[in-house]
Amino acid sequence: MIPNQMRAPLAASPHAQDGPAGPPLAGPERWRTGVVYQVYPRSFRDTNGDGVGDLPGLIERLDYLNDGTPHSLGIDAIWLSPIYPSAGFDSGYDVSDYTGIDPLFGSLADFERLVVEAHRRGIRLILDQVFNHTSSSHPWFIESRASRSAARADWYIWRDPAGFGPGGRPLRPNNWASFFGGPAWTWDETREQFYLHTFLPEQPDLNWRNPAVRAALLDVIRTWLGRGVDGFRFDVFNAFYKHIDLLSNPVRPGGRRAYSRQVHLYDKNQPELFELLAEIRAIVDEQPGRMTVGELFEGSVELAASYAAARHLVFDFSLIQQPWSARAFARAVAQREAAFGPDGWPTVVLSNHDQPRSASRYDGPDGDARAKVAATMLMTLRGTPFMYYGEEIGLRDVEIPRDEIQDPAARRSRGWWNRDQARAPMPWGPGPNAGFSTGRPWLRMSADGASRNVAAQLDDPDSILAHYRRLIWLRRSNPALTTGAYEQAAVGGRTVFAYLRRGATQAALVLLGFGRREVSIALPDSPSGRPWRAILSTHEPQPAGSPPSRLRPLEAIILVDD
Ligand code: GLC
Repeated sequence: MIPNQMRAPLAASPHAQDGPAGPPLAGPERWRTGVVYQVYPRSFRDTNGDGVGDLPGLIERLDYLNDGTPHSLGIDAIWLSPIYPSAGFDSGYDVSDYTGIDPLFGSLADFERLVVEAHRRGIRLILDQVFNHTSSSHPWFIESRASRSAARADWYIWRDPAGFGPGGRPLRPNNWASFFGGPAWTWDETREQFYLHTFLPEQPDLNWRNPAVRAALLDVIRTWLGRGVDGFRFDVFNAFYKHIDLLSNPVRPGGRRAYSRQVHLYDKNQPELFELLAEIRAIVDEQPGRMTVGELFEGSVELAASYAAARHLVFDFSLIQQPWSARAFARAVAQREAAFGPDGWPTVVLSNHDQPRSASRYDGPDGDARAKVAATMLMTLRGTPFMYYGEEIGLRDVEIPRDEIQDPAARRSRGWWNRDQARAPMPWGPGPNAGFSTGRPWLRMSADGASRNVAAQLDDPDSILAHYRRLIWLRRSNPALTTGAYEQAAVGGRTVFAYLRRGATQAALVLLGFGRREVSIALPDSPSGRPWRAILSTHEPQPAGSPPSRLRPLEAIILVDD
C-alpha cells in the first residue's frame, strides 16, 4: 500500500479516463492481504435526518476508514449490506429491484460518487447479492404468482400439493422447513400451488434451474461490475440449487427447531452449484483485482473449504462459535488449517449482522481487554479478516425491548434469534444520538454512546480503536502477518494461544493471553535465528522492546524476527 498514491486525485489514476473501472491500487493479492470492513448501511451514518444511515453518510466517513495514513483505520475494502429497493421484511435481504438503490439510502448518483470516492482512497467496494430469493414484491414474483401460464411462471419453485388432507386442505410437497420457523412452503390461492421459501414467506426462492433466471442474475452481476464494484458477497450461496426432485430431508431427532430437526441433504449443497459458481467466478475474474465471498449457509469448515477458490472466499463461522478459551480457538484454527490446507485461503470472522457482537460474547469485567486480544487474533490469523462496523470500538449488543424489535425474523422466532441487538447505529461522538443522526434513529442506540464512541477513542492512545489502527497498519509492513504460513507454537501456559506466521523473509510470533493471571512463557527460536523483536503489545502504546518472558493478564504481543 503506497499512501501517496492512495491519496492521489482521481484524475491521476490510470483508471480515471475509463470511468469507475477499478480502484487505483488493484494489487492482485489484496483479496488475501486486505482487511474487509462490513458496513450495515442503515446503522452507519445518517445525513438527512430520517434516522436511517445513507450512502452520503458512508461517503462522509470514508476518510475515517482509510485516508491513506495511520490516523485512519486503514481498511482495504468495504462489504456493504444490501442497498437495493426492498419491502423491508428482512432488512434489505428481500430485494425487489436488483439494480436500483433504495431511496432510503440515496440515489444511483450517490452510489456512483461512493465508488469514485472509495476508489480514490484505495478502498474497494464489495456488494451483497441476495440471489437465493427475491422479495415477494419483486415484479418477477408478482408476475410469477399471477398465473401458471405467465411468462415468468417458472421463475420460482412452484409445486402442486402432494395431495389433500381433511377438509380439502392442500398437503405440502415435502417436509422442508423455513430457517426462520414454520414450513418452507406457502399455499397460493391464485395458482393453487405452493411456492418455496427457505426464509420468510416474503422471500420466495428463485428457480436457478430456469436458464432465464440464471441469465437475468448473471446480468445483475455484469451491471454492477460495469458500475465499478470490486466484488460481491453472495448471500446463502450454497442454497441456490435444490434437489431436482425436491425430496424430503431425512429427519434428525433432537433439534430445538423444525429446521434443525432435519439433515439438509436436498435443500442445499447440490452438485449443480459448482458449475454455476465457475460461471459467476469467470465473469468476476474478467477484470483483475476482483473477488467474491460466499456466505456458507450452515455447514462445516470442511464444506466451506470445498467451495473456496483463488480470489473467491467462503465464510465459515467456526471461530464465532468458540467460547473465550485459548484451547478452544487453537483447536478450531487447527481444524480450519487442516480443512483449507496450506494452499487454500480462509476468512477470519468474529462478528457480523446476524450474530451477537464479539465484544458481547466475550464480555465480562475485562471486556475491553478481551476485545483487544480478539482484535489481535482477527488481524493475525491466516486468512482474510472481515470486521463488522463498531467492532473497532468494542461496541456491545444493545438490548431491544420487544415492542421495538425491527427484524421480522426475530419476531417470528419468538426471540431465540434477535439480530437487532447487533445492528445498533454507530456512535460517532458526543451529542444527540452520539452523532449518528439528527433524527430519531431507526433502532435504539447503545446506552454508553456518550463515552464509547469513535471520537473519544480516536483521542485515546489506549483505546480499542487505537489498537485496531496500529494492528491494521502493522499488517501492511509485515508480510508474515498476511501471507505467512500458520504454525501453532508452544510457549507454555494453558491460557495462551500462540502461533507463528512464517513468511519468505520474515516470521512473526503472535502471543494471545486469554487468562486473567500473569504467566511465564518461553519463546521458540525464531526461524531466522535473529532475536524476536516485539512490535506491538496490547498493554502499552509502544512496542515492548526485548522478548518477553512473561505475559501479563489478557495481553497480546506480536513479535517479528527481522
Ligand atoms: C443471510 C443474511 C441474513 C438474511 C438471510 C436471508 O444469512 O446474512 O441477514 O436474513 O441470509 O437472506
